[in-house]
Amino acid sequence: MSEPVALIIDDEQDLLSLLSITLRRMGVESHKAGNVAEAKSQLDRRSFDLCLTDLRLPDGSGMEIVKYIQDNYSETPVAVITAFGDPKTAVEALKLGAFDYIAKPIEVEQLKAIIESSIRLGDTSQSIEPARTLLGESEEINKIRALINKVARNQAPVHIHGETGTGKELIARLIHEHGPRASNPFVAVNCGAIPSELMESEFFGHKKGSFTGAFSDKKGLFEAANGGTLFLDEIAELPQDLQVKLLRTIQEKTVRPVGEVTERAIDVRIISATHKDLQEMIEKDQFREDLYYRVNVIPISAPSLGERPDDIPVLAEHFLKLISEKIGVEAPTLTSEALKMLAGHQFPGNVRELENLLERTLALHEGKTIDAEDIDLPQVSRSNKGTSEAASVAAMDGPIEEHLVRIERKLITDALKRSGGNITQAAELLGTTFRSLRYKIKKLEIE
Ligand SMILES: Nc1ncnc2c1ncn2[C@@H]1O[C@H](COP(=O)(O)OP(=O)(O)OP(=O)(O)O)[C@@H](O)[C@H]1O
Ligand SMILES: [Mg+2]
Repeated sequence: MSEPVALIIDDEQDLLSLLSITLRRMGVESHKAGNVAEAKSQLDRRSFDLCLTDLRLPDGSGMEIVKYIQDNYSETPVAVITAFGDPKTAVEALKLGAFDYIAKPIEVEQLKAIIESSIRLGDTSQSIEPARTLLGESEEINKIRALINKVARNQAPVHIHGETGTGKELIARLIHEHGPRASNPFVAVNCGAIPSELMESEFFGHKKGSFTGAFSDKKGLFEAANGGTLFLDEIAELPQDLQVKLLRTIQEKTVRPVGEVTERAIDVRIISATHKDLQEMIEKDQFREDLYYRVNVIPISAPSLGERPDDIPVLAEHFLKLISEKIGVEAPTLTSEALKMLAGHQFPGNVRELENLLERTLALHEGKTIDAEDIDLPQVSRSNKGTSEAASVAAMDGPIEEHLVRIERKLITDALKRSGGNITQAAELLGTTFRSLRYKIKKLEIE
């Protein structure tokens, strides 16, 4: 690749020199512009690998430049320089399509990180072939595929909302794998699974001796994901005090390990997900609005299988192939009756439930074709549930507590079976939280 060229736009000479020196040291040639009009004419004259613009310019706003680039040269990543303590503008710029932002006073480390990832965008030799793909032919899935490709190219926080098993984590991974961070780590963390007293140290790390049990320095998840992506799964489960700390980290792009006095610069892209309604949680004061605003810069909504039943056959055939490969047998085909039955079935556990169902089916099946009766669909209709409960009440003997425990145990094991052992998903099926389900599983000694 020939030497990359950047366009830097600012009316302050000091800042322009800092930018051009940093760029030069990184092997990037820079062209300068002092205002919006000049920037536009430079952009029209040649192509740039990267553009860095201040927001306050003598003849207008840097936002105009972001928009101009989006409309005319959308391949060029543009980062904005925001005033100190102005997070709103940063979010606005990201929503307009800016690749990233950096706050004044400029930290050279942060500047370097931005320059590096924007250069990596243009360098296709580095791109790796993503191992997985998002399957489906429905309009909903087509839209998401296009969105993944688009947002992979910038650094803005993405929030993925969707029911359990709809592919939220898969979408997050694909965004990472399609972007300039692909060769750096993707770190996934289930915010509901970390005990609250350990959370701060898990996220930000700690210094040796900072609390009982801190035997050595430990890197937090943010540092582990440095240069890459941190996937905050079940973000709704974050306790309030951590929400505050997370907000601060995202805004300042720094972390401070527990027991440490200085901040460390980090360069991490945040992708978050939940099946919960964060808007509603904000109204109930359970989730901070300022954090929501910050993580939800680019919202993606993962459609349930029920919203796209036409995708069920494609997915079913794909999973059969995949599972057969894994266990080393030839993939059987699904008869049209079987496909029809699957497409008409409700899957509250969505794609994961379909996958688990086919795994079970294949484990019990021999032969080249799978017919409708070979598939053991769980009976979920409400009337059914009602009668079986009534029947067991009639058959009840002994103290009510024991009986309730039996019912509880049965409901939990059924849900775990449906979710293929995934506690998060089972918790959702049962309308409870990961934590309380984990507690119940322990208490009832369920395997
Ligand atoms: N469109 C799709 N194409 C192919 N595989 C998919 C698709 N959607 C989901 N999957 C697969 O289904 C399984 C569940 O997906 P994933 O873990 O991403 O769901 P999730 O939304 O994160 O679920 P949960 O809320 O329970 O954590 C994974 O094995 C994933 O690869
Ligand atoms: Mg998930």
